[in-house]
Amino acid sequence: MDFHIFQTPEEASHSLARGIASLIKRCEVAGKRPVIGLATGRTPLALYRELVRMHREEGLSFRNVITFNLDEYHGLGRNHPKSYWRFMHENLFDHLDILPENIHVPRGDIEPEDTVRECQEYEAAIADAGGIDLQILGIGRTGHIGFNEPGSGAHTRTRLVELDPVTRADAVADFGHLSAVPEMALTVGCGTILEARSIALMAWGSGKATVVGKAFLGPVSGDVPASFLQDHPSVSLYLDEPAAELLAAGCEEKHHHSKD
Ligand code: GLP
Repeated sequence: MDFHIFQTPEEASHSLARGIASLIKRCEVAGKRPVIGLATGRTPLALYRELVRMHREEGLSFRNVITFNLDEYHGLGRNHPKSYWRFMHENLFDHLDILPENIHVPRGDIEPEDTVRECQEYEAAIADAGGIDLQILGIGRTGHIGFNEPGSGAHTRTRLVELDPVTRADAVADFGHLSAVPEMALTVGCGTILEARSIALMAWGSGKATVVGKAFLGPVSGDVPASFLQDHPSVSLYLDEPAAELLAAGCEEKHHHSKD
C-alpha cells in the first residue's frame, strides 16, 4: 500500500485530483473511457471542489468519464434532499460536462421485490463498462467502505444492507434526528470494490485515526471491512496528519521490533 500523508485535506485532495486528471488524459490517449468509482460523505468534498475547478479553469473534460457511486440510502428517491444521487449532483455532476447516461448511483427507492434485480443490474453495468479503473473511498468509523459494515465478507456483491448503529448516529448530522436516518442502504460489495484496478482511500481528522490504524495495521478481517484493502495490489491512502497518527506510531513500533 502507498501511504500519502499531507498537512491538510485540501493538499491531499489536490494530489488525488491530479491523479484523476492524469487517468482521464491517459485514457483519452488510449481511446478508452475511464471508469471511476465515487464515494459520498464529507471526506471527498475537497476532491470534488478541485475536480470542478480543474474542469472550469483548466478545461479538464469529463465527457468520456463513466462513474459508479458506491451506495444509496434505502427508501430515498433521487430527489430526496439527503439522497446520495442529489449529493453527487449538487457537489460534482451538475458542475461538470459528464453525460447523464454515464452516471450510475444505486436506486434507493425500489420495492423490496426488485432489490435483487437492481443489485444484479448494477454489477452487470460495472462489468459492461469494463470494470472500475479507480475506486475512490472514504472510511466510516465502523471501518466500513461503501456501506459494507462490520460482518461483511470480502466477496460480498451489491446488496441491501442494514446500517450499523454507529453509522446511523454519525448520519444524524445530515438528517437532523436519528429517527429520520434510514435503517438500510444499497451498497456495492467488498468484492466489487476489491475488483477495481486501483483504489484511493481518503481519511481526515483525529476522529478517523483509530479506525485507520485498525484497518491498515490490524488483522485483515470482516470486523473492519476496510482491512480487506490490505490484500489489494494497488491501494493508495490519502491521509492528513491527524488521521495518520496511529498508523505512523504503529509503523514506527513495527520498524522498531523488526530491528530488535
Ligand atoms: C458514509 C458513506 C461512506 C463514507 C463514510 C464516511 O456514510 N456511505 O462511503 O466513506 O460514511 O463519511 P464521512 O466522509 O462523512 O466521514
